[in-house]
Parts: sequence; C-alpha cells; structure tokens
Amino acid sequence: MRIAVVGSGYVGLVAGACFAELGHDVIVVDNDEQKLAALQAGQVPIHENFLPELLNRHRGKRLTFSGDLQPAVKESSAIFIAVGTPPTEQGEADLSYVESVARSISAAINGYKVVVEKSTVPVYTSEWVRRVILRNAAPPDLFDVASNPEFLREGNAVTDFLYPDRIVVGANNERCAAVLREIYAPLTDGRYYRRPEAIPQPGQVPIPPKLIVTSTQSAELIKHASNAFLAMKISFINAVASVCEAVGADVKQVCQGIGSDSRIGARFFNPGIGYGGSCFPKDLKAFRAVARECGYEFRLLDEVMRINEEQRERFLRKVRSALWTLRGKRLAVLGLAFKGGTDDIRESPAIFLVETLLQEGCRIAAYDPAAQERAREVLGSSVDFAADAYEAARGADALLILTEWDEFANLDLKRMYSQLKYPVVIDGRNLYDGESMAEFGFTYYSVGRSAVIPEHTRDAAAPARTLKNS
Ligand code: UGA
Repeated sequence: MRIAVVGSGYVGLVAGACFAELGHDVIVVDNDEQKLAALQAGQVPIHENFLPELLNRHRGKRLTFSGDLQPAVKESSAIFIAVGTPPTEQGEADLSYVESVARSISAAINGYKVVVEKSTVPVYTSEWVRRVILRNAAPPDLFDVASNPEFLREGNAVTDFLYPDRIVVGANNERCAAVLREIYAPLTDGRYYRRPEAIPQPGQVPIPPKLIVTSTQSAELIKHASNAFLAMKISFINAVASVCEAVGADVKQVCQGIGSDSRIGARFFNPGIGYGGSCFPKDLKAFRAVARECGYEFRLLDEVMRINEEQRERFLRKVRSALWTLRGKRLAVLGLAFKGGTDDIRESPAIFLVETLLQEGCRIAAYDPAAQERAREVLGSSVDFAADAYEAARGADALLILTEWDEFANLDLKRMYSQLKYPVVIDGRNLYDGESMAEFGFTYYSVGRSAVIPEHTRDAAAPARTLKNS
C-alpha cells in the first residue's frame, strides 16, 4: 500500500521506516528543510536501535522523504499524522499542527483515503480532524479518520513497533478498519516474523500480535490511560521505596514479591529518581486537562505527578546527607538522558538534578554514552563532559548514577574505586546491590534500600540521624 507519514519526529520516522520494512511504499513528509536534507543524505537524526539498518535498507527505494504534502496525499491510500502536540501553558496538548495538516490534507483528497491520527492526542481529536477536513470541502464519502496510537518506547522504538504487545485501531466503520488491518497484516498474520532478514525478536514477546478494533474515542483514551497507568506504577513503587527506607526494608525484595502476582506484574516497577521524557510528563498533564474539561477531576494524576517531583527532591536530600555541604564538592555524574538507550534529554530528571547541584555550588564532571551533545546544548560549559565513566570519576567526592544505561550497571568497580577521591556512590537507579558495593569498599546509597557503609569507614560516613530521612 502507498502510505504517507506526516512528521519525521520519533514516531513519524520510526513508523515510516517500519511500514517500509513491512513492504509498503512510504513517503515521509516534513516541512523542516534541514531535517529533510539530513534524512535524504543518509543521516539518522535520533539514537534508536535498528533505525539506521532500516533506513539503509529502504531509503530511496520503499522509503522516500518530501517537503510537499499535497502530492504525497494524492498518491497515498493512508495518511498518518505524526506531528508534534506540545503542551500549552495550561498543560493541554497544542493541536494547531494537527489542525493545519488536516486542512492541507483536505485539499488533496482525490479518492478514498484513511487519515490516521498517530500523534498522542486528547479524546475527540479524530472527530475534530474529520470536521476540519469536511469544512474544507472534502467529500464525506472519500475519507475516514482513524486513531492508531503508538506505544513505542524511545530506545526500543523499532522493536516495539515490529513486536508490539497489541495494535490498537480506532475506526468508526469497517471500510476504514479494513485499510488498517491490511497495513498491519504482515505482523498480525505472522508473515513478517518468518522473513530471514526480519529484525530479531526481543525477549519473550508473544507473536503474532493482536489487533484490537475500537471506536476512535476509545483508541484515543487507551493511549492516554496507558501512559497514565505506567506513570502511576512508577510513582507507586517510588512511594513504596520511601516507606522501605523508613522501615529498613529492601524495595527490590518488595518489588519481587508484589510483581510476582500476575495481576500486578514485575515490569515498570523500578524505583529511582522519577520518570521523565517527552511523553509521561506531558501526557499526564494533557490527560488531566481532558478529564477536567469533561467534568472529572482526576486527582489521582495530581498525586502521581507530585510523588514524581518529590522523588527528585528526596534524591537531592540523599546527596546532601551523604556529603554534608555541597559548595565546592566535585561530583561525577553518570547519565544525562531521561533513561538508558536514548540520547533524549527532554524532561530528564538527571538534567534537573545536575542543574540543581550546580546552583548549590557543586562542580560536575558528567558522562553519558549518547546524550552528551544534547546535554551540552543545555548545560554549556557549566559541566565538564568526560570521555567515559572513569574520567568523570577522577578525583570526585562522590559518584552519582542518574540514568539506567547497561554500561553503568557493568562498571569495573575496582577501577572506579581507584578513580574517586572518596568511594561514595549515590545510585538513583538501583543498578548495584549494597553488599557487593561494600565488599569493594564503597559507601553506597540507593533508592528504597538502607545505605551500606563498609565497616572500616563507618565513623567517616554521615551520622545515622541525617541519613534516616534522606
Ligand atoms: C513511554 C511509554 O513507555 C511508551 O509505551 C509510549 O509509547 C511512550 O511513552 C509515548 O507515549 O510515546 P518512553 O517515554 O520512551 O515511553 O520511556 P519509558 O521507557 O516509558 O520511560 C519513561 C520514564 O520512566 C523514564 O524516565 C524511565 O527512566 C522511567 N522509568 C521507567 C522508571 O523510573 N521506572 C521504571 O520501572 C520504568
């Protein structure tokens, strides 16, 4: 099928590359000329596993890029809208880009088309898109509007797309649903997974995935509610972690116990410094705004957000307790991205923490395997950027782990010990276990577990009273 994808951000670019991988002819449209030129020249603008492979495989063949929306719409049977929906001051999603794309699409409708909303949008957006297209004189029998939310995670976007837990299609009639069924058929009938060159299956994802057809409103709500639930799960375990610290329990053990109940599940249950990124913070605010507009005060979401902010403050208190005064202290920071596996620093708790520690007079040497360049744009010369974790740690008063990169979970601890001025590790992602850190001689603070202080340094560590409420 010929498909147009409007917007070449995370969702648009990954969707476009993956549709081409499924065998469709795809044209990705963007009005950012610099971005287009870079994509046409073979550059990959985001750090995403398997994306370079897919772009190499299909660029110039089944995957092309254009700045011209109307011809792309004319040639395509399905048009996916994947433009940005940034938050307004009030936390609502700004839908002006979606509206302007819908307006342009209407002028190019020359046969039956399915216009698919793929950006994360509030409920009723598909209905608004339909009205905009109608108002601009497109004949009603020549188009339908569907909602096909995306559940991909940054860093795993390609595999999440090709090996989804489910595909949700919001369509208000069978003709429209049939087009989306055809697009995803290589996944739902398992054909794609039998191809020798298919992107390898990650972990234990059930294949083939199921495709769930709902109304457009339900599909739109599924997306917001899914993200809100995942954020709630993270805030819940962060709140449990705080209780664990107060009573001397180990949150890892508690997670194992709770997560083994199949009704609850162990995934997305890692406590830390709170969630960040371009999705959860924005989507929670947008979902709360949608609910409020419909007459429901979704107070649970307020609490989820409050706990998330508090989690960063708790971590800062932990740093203060471990080091006493902060002015002039040299800190090594591992991780700047909002999570491991990505170069994205949007709403990154790590960036927030670094900025706060700088304000408190700390000197910081930071290292991130992918987000360093983006972080430099925000932090400038206020931070020393190191070539690796060990260089960052050289002469530091403490090591802070802020992003859950795999390489930070596999440090050469002996070497790390020798680099630091004081062997103090404050781990915001619980990548290590306290006992082995103590064996290596580290004083180790983490989230939801008691601080571990090696016997011989106990007197030099912070007084128990200050640690207790950290
Ligand atoms: C999230 C959802 O997971 C995707 O399903 C969704 O499609 C996407 O938003 C979106 O709406 O586009 P993403 O923002 O890429 O994906 O990142 P996640 O892997 O969900 O992580 C979000 C944040 O939560 C990160 O800061 C991460 O460190 C944190 N997190 C995650 C935890 O603190 N604990 C966990 O157990 C899991």
